[in-house]
Parts: sequence; C-alpha cells; structure tokens
Amino acid sequence: MTDFVAVARWDELEEGKLLGVEIDGEPVCLAKINGVIYACNGECTHIGGRLYEGELEGSVLTCPVHGAQFDLRTGKVLRGPARQDLVLYPVRVEEGLIKVALPPE
Ligand code: FES
Repeated sequence: MTDFVAVARWDELEEGKLLGVEIDGEPVCLAKINGVIYACNGECTHIGGRLYEGELEGSVLTCPVHGAQFDLRTGKVLRGPARQDLVLYPVRVEEGLIKVALPPE
C-alpha cells in the first residue's frame, strides 16, 4: 500500500511557485500550477541540482544549475543537459494538507 505523507499546508504553496520538502530524507519538489499540486524528485536528473530552487513558468521547471527544463505535468525533459525524465509522485490534498507518496523502492 502506498503511504501518503503530509509535507506542507495547502496555503504554504503559492500559485505558480515551487517548494522544497523532504520525505524520509528524500528531497521532493512541489509546485502549484492552476491550483493543481505536482510533486517530483527534488534533485535534477542531470547532476542533482536543487529543482525547488529553480524557476517555474507555466508548467515548465528550469533547473537552477545548468538550465535543463522539464514539464511538471508529465515529468518529460524539454531541454538538456538532463536526459532522464522526472519522477512524478502521487499527490492528495486532504483537510488543507498536501500529502505525497513516494513510489515503492
Ligand atoms: S544539475 Fe540540473 S541541469 Fe545540471
């Protein structure tokens, strides 16, 4: 069974912004796009830049280190140097809390 963990309050994450959180020591990047919360690995698939410190424009997340771009709705790489897509995590919003489940190992 997948465990959903509360990581932030809904109102802590502003529309169009990113937020870095951790689950069991794993960095996770949250984003709110048109009122929908997305969650992905917090480290860039290139060489581990902190994606939650990057830029978000629409659904496009730009890594702050070398500028790789990803579509947060799909996880797909849009621009290198990253070649591997992001892993998107399931998200639930319950009682004003954002809950995220890491995939099973
Ligand atoms: S670490 Fe993200 S593009 Fe290099």
